[in-house]
Amino acid sequence: MRSTVEDPTDKNGRVRTIDWRDDHIVAIDQTKLPGELVELAIFSVEDLVDAIRRLAIRGAPALGAAGALGAAMAARDDPGHRDLALAGLRAARPTAVNLAWGVDRAAARLAEGPDAVLREALDVLEEDAVRNRRLAERGADWLAAQLQRPANVQTHCNAGALACVEWGTALGIVRALHERGRLGHVYVDETRPLLQGSRLTSWELTELGVDHTLVIDAAAATVLARGLANAVVVGADRITANGDVVNKIGTFPLALAAARAGVPFVVAAPESTIDPATESGLDVEIEVRDGREVLAIGGLPGTATLNYAFDVTPADLVTAIVTEDRLIRPALGERPA
Ligand code: MRU
Repeated sequence: MRSTVEDPTDKNGRVRTIDWRDDHIVAIDQTKLPGELVELAIFSVEDLVDAIRRLAIRGAPALGAAGALGAAMAARDDPGHRDLALAGLRAARPTAVNLAWGVDRAAARLAEGPDAVLREALDVLEEDAVRNRRLAERGADWLAAQLQRPANVQTHCNAGALACVEWGTALGIVRALHERGRLGHVYVDETRPLLQGSRLTSWELTELGVDHTLVIDAAAATVLARGLANAVVVGADRITANGDVVNKIGTFPLALAAARAGVPFVVAAPESTIDPATESGLDVEIEVRDGREVLAIGGLPGTATLNYAFDVTPADLVTAIVTEDRLIRPALGERPA
């Protein structure tokens, strides 16, 4: 893998988290933020899998784009290698349904040749920004109507442009509220152990000029209990047919605290995050990551850990799921599929 420190703005003046350039994938290396804005150049599916596993590329919609572009890369290989590469890519991270969705959507064009697979993958990228904009406007409309005062939003992990190709989902709603002058303040959960909140969400909000305050995860419930936030908006890695939401570890306790405080708990995700084939969150494989991530800050080496990367928020705690096409209210018994 080659890392470059080029300006990630493309010739159209756009910044995309992940893109295709000539014959390879380029992606912002999210392990380097907020210190450095460094772009990775990825020339093989093996290197793409490595970038996904170490969260250089992360966030469900960005993983969908990575899966599709990886399939375009694999399509150039001979069938033996290609099938192995595609299976490895689908399995690189198990929880976000978008990764396998992206691989399968682009790979469905294999019979038409590598150019068709690449065209399909580029369509996935093009659609991402459009879909996110649509869901953001819908989410902002709904929240503005519910709250009838500035929204003070609490969010967890990073569901911004960095987690997508462009714009963002949960942070897309925050951006839409900000554009309309309907945003008060944003509370950002730190998001242990890999700090997607403090490293990535804070960075994005700073770039956007959005006022925000960082809190440790253990303070998340207190922010709600004290009435500082009047809405929780998060992304999702998978939404099951019954409306359970699988998202970054720490989302479930945030939903419990929101219910206790009487604050709406809103999930923003594209339709591709809905997995109609899986009935409930209990059926989803939850990624368990290396314990050294937990021990990295002051831990005693060798201590046993249980490093769940995601948790399941039951449907009855989810006030609304906002997609590019609809608003679903699982807490009222509405099912996404
Ligand atoms: O482990 P990560 O950083 O990939 O986890 C990301 C999340 O949990 C996001 O909230 C989710 O993917 C939605 S991103 C729009």
